[in-house]
Amino acid sequence: MGLFGKKLKQEHKVMLQAERAGGKLLPEYHRATPECPRPERWSMYDSMTAEAEVLEFLRTLVTTVKPELVVETGSFLGVSTLWMAEGMKANGFGKIISCEYDPKVFAAAKEKIEGHELAPFIELRNESSLEMKVEGTIDILFSDSDVDIRESEVRRFLPQVRPTGLVLMHDASSHMKTVRNAAFKLEAEGLLSCVFLPTPRGLVIAQRREGRA
Ligand SMILES: C[S@@+](CC[C@H](N)C(=O)[O-])C[C@H]1O[C@@H](n2cnc3c(N)ncnc32)[C@H](O)[C@@H]1O
Repeated sequence: MGLFGKKLKQEHKVMLQAERAGGKLLPEYHRATPECPRPERWSMYDSMTAEAEVLEFLRTLVTTVKPELVVETGSFLGVSTLWMAEGMKANGFGKIISCEYDPKVFAAAKEKIEGHELAPFIELRNESSLEMKVEGTIDILFSDSDVDIRESEVRRFLPQVRPTGLVLMHDASSHMKTVRNAAFKLEAEGLLSCVFLPTPRGLVIAQRREGRA
């Protein structure tokens, strides 16, 4: 419970920092890793929101594979949600269900998204990824919540992911070992086939092994 409380505070702190920064891009601050020795070449809005280049990648991924349904765990301020929704707007269809379990963070994301022109593509839920129920087949699962539960949430949603669909796990750099090790484990069990993109925080892009043509 102590750890839980500490985590919430950190999220609220970054939320205030993001508000004060007012959308200004900063150099990425995560430390260098063997796979990404020059992190300062990347940019970020804040330390919770995915790297700016990863946001662009998410939007392009949406226009590339044209998903009907994206599930995102960990909305934070809804920035990655909005970038993926922008891809859906370009496609002319699609829905993102994004969950954020912290009520204060959820309220801030809701305020940002409500009334936004991309809102019709987004369903924001104040729920935990470990409890949220989603109907239908998932084309892209973007796992970006608390690092300690990524393995559980990927296992939870995997049966609903289309065999040709994609699973993305953020924060999988060699510096942040938890998610990286979870991806290696899921791969070793034959559940996923993973590619580790060498970004500052690390991004796994994976596909279910079972069912691939
Ligand atoms: C790294 S941030 C998400 C960043 C966001 N995807 C972006 O790039 O703009 C992680 C968020 O996940 C939330 N979170 C943590 N555990 C969660 C859970 N079990 N279910 C839903 N959200 C969770 C945190 O409150 C935090 O806001």
